[in-house]
Amino acid sequence: MPQNLTHKILAAHLVDGASLGAPGSEISLRIDQTLTQDATGTMAYLQFEALGLDRVQTELSVSYVDHNTLQMGFRNPDDHRYLRTVAKRYGLVYSPPGTGICHQLHLENFAKPGKTLIGSDSHTPTAGGLGMIAMGAGGLSVALAMAGEPYRIAMPKVVRVNLTGKLTGWATGKDIILHLLGMLTVKGGVGKVFEYAGPGVKTLTVPERATITNMGAELGATTSLFPADERARDFLTSMGRADDYEEWVADEGAEYDETIEIDLSKLEPLAAQPHMPDRVVPVRELAGMAVSQSAIGSCTNSSYADLKSVAQMLTGKRISETTDLLVSPGSKQVMKMLAHENLIEPLLDAGARMLEASCGPCIGMGGSPISEGVSVRTFNRNFEGRSGTQDAKVYLTSPLVAARVALDGAFTDPAGWGEPPAFPELPATTPSIRHLFIFPPEDGSGVEVLRGPNIVPLETFSELPETIGTRILLKTGDDITTDHILPAGAQITALRSNIPAISEYIFSRVDAEFVSRMKSAEGAPCRGVILGGENYGQGSSREHAALGPRHLGVCAVITKSLARIHRANLVNFGILPLLLKNPADYDRLSQGTELTIAATDLTPGGTIAIEAKGVGPIEVINDLTATELAIIQAGGLLNYVRAKREQ
Ligand code: F3S
Repeated sequence: MPQNLTHKILAAHLVDGASLGAPGSEISLRIDQTLTQDATGTMAYLQFEALGLDRVQTELSVSYVDHNTLQMGFRNPDDHRYLRTVAKRYGLVYSPPGTGICHQLHLENFAKPGKTLIGSDSHTPTAGGLGMIAMGAGGLSVALAMAGEPYRIAMPKVVRVNLTGKLTGWATGKDIILHLLGMLTVKGGVGKVFEYAGPGVKTLTVPERATITNMGAELGATTSLFPADERARDFLTSMGRADDYEEWVADEGAEYDETIEIDLSKLEPLAAQPHMPDRVVPVRELAGMAVSQSAIGSCTNSSYADLKSVAQMLTGKRISETTDLLVSPGSKQVMKMLAHENLIEPLLDAGARMLEASCGPCIGMGGSPISEGVSVRTFNRNFEGRSGTQDAKVYLTSPLVAARVALDGAFTDPAGWGEPPAFPELPATTPSIRHLFIFPPEDGSGVEVLRGPNIVPLETFSELPETIGTRILLKTGDDITTDHILPAGAQITALRSNIPAISEYIFSRVDAEFVSRMKSAEGAPCRGVILGGENYGQGSSREHAALGPRHLGVCAVITKSLARIHRANLVNFGILPLLLKNPADYDRLSQGTELTIAATDLTPGGTIAIEAKGVGPIEVINDLTATELAIIQAGGLLNYVRAKREQ
């Protein structure tokens, strides 16, 4: 039976001779490659180290440093040194700070058609531009994939995005994904893979394709991918990697779960308005709005072609004196190519500020807009406050639009822009920066892993006791977010590799006494239980919101309902997620209530009665699978996997 490309790659990576099930059923995949960036990488490598392996088991694993490249104090440089030495010790490639942004570098240097990749960064699907299944994942999942464990996902639906026609005028690859976002919204891709097909595909270069698959993450998609065709071959040849090319395309007549049609010739320049990537309107509708900053770069639009077209537009011109223009190349390779073609000078002469090849302004690491400013960015996210300026208004556009507004100091109507610059094709050969990566030795066993005071090895958590005698040490209301559990902010996130230190901030903005109550409670490993309302743990996927409470001795969270990703993190770190069978029991329980939980009575998906002193029995249910319960009983996923590997 003819297969679509997604099914082909997934089927080639199923473990245990399994077959692809219906959408929603669980599948286990062999992972060929992993990547991390520094903000999530330190924890992933501490978790990998805790598994006790001598070397990564993947075909390729790369540790990039692109997020926290500012070195103001010891913490970031210490992290970088840890990442460099841990990579050498365990067989990973290390990409030093300043080399470039993980996704751009991976596309240029390591992505391979037909392979699987998971990365501890949500824009890992960028590599789908070269015909691979590339997915964002949590740090622990990446650590386990590096240990050779399969990666489990829900079988996605496959959407065929049928491209016809050809882009015209000022429309670019960015406008294709903005168009889709406007059409489907940021929730439109959940549980789906977007597979691009049709005659329009061959009109798009790999960097344009990668812009589209990068921002597929904003649709909430599992991933997005393009076929590996002659365009992919040309790209790999230009990168000096012709041998990495293999054709991976869908079979003629392959079936899809859904189809979306896009006629490229009908697209025009678009912009996502504040503060969501799906609030998309034509640029012409914004004409007249003053713009105080334009920022070109990020993992979405920082390729050679993106920046060359900007340089061509700015040659011989001066940007508006009321607009700042920031340019961050995606990699040193992009920088070298621009320098080689004398394209840096026109950017500098036009008034652009050239930044390091890193994430930079995309995560508010410099380049924050003025207060209440309008910033036009080629990035993928425009959430409120992400730029570092709470009341700034961020619009997402293509590099061509961002360059144009920098010249005009305002949005203008593309109808008056004249002819767009010629689309830059990659030269047949490009200068390599491969020598800048630090490749590991064959045998790293003699390499010392260097940790500064901010890098603290993970503790080993104890198994779930048979009987838990404990107290409710915090009672919260509804809609507690992971930000309530562990606030964000530079001071706190700098402690990301130091669980004891970061745990001091758990619930610090909800109840300043919580940590000291936990510390003074007796009964390790179960010092206390949290009682939550509806939708406990919503928000980001940050693992620290489960790791920190576990470090403090929280062994169970009892709630009316629980957010999905936080629930998974609680399981991963050995905290029991229990749901009140009768939500009205929430009112009968108080902070300080003594509880006795007979953990031996727990069965997957079952109900047990908890003895609450002075209140009586309280029925709680769990929605755990047998494996999840076994993980909690083992004291978390790391213990569980370690024990399984020793069998
Ligand atoms: Fe970096 Fe922003 Fe991409 S933080 S990885 S450039 S989304």
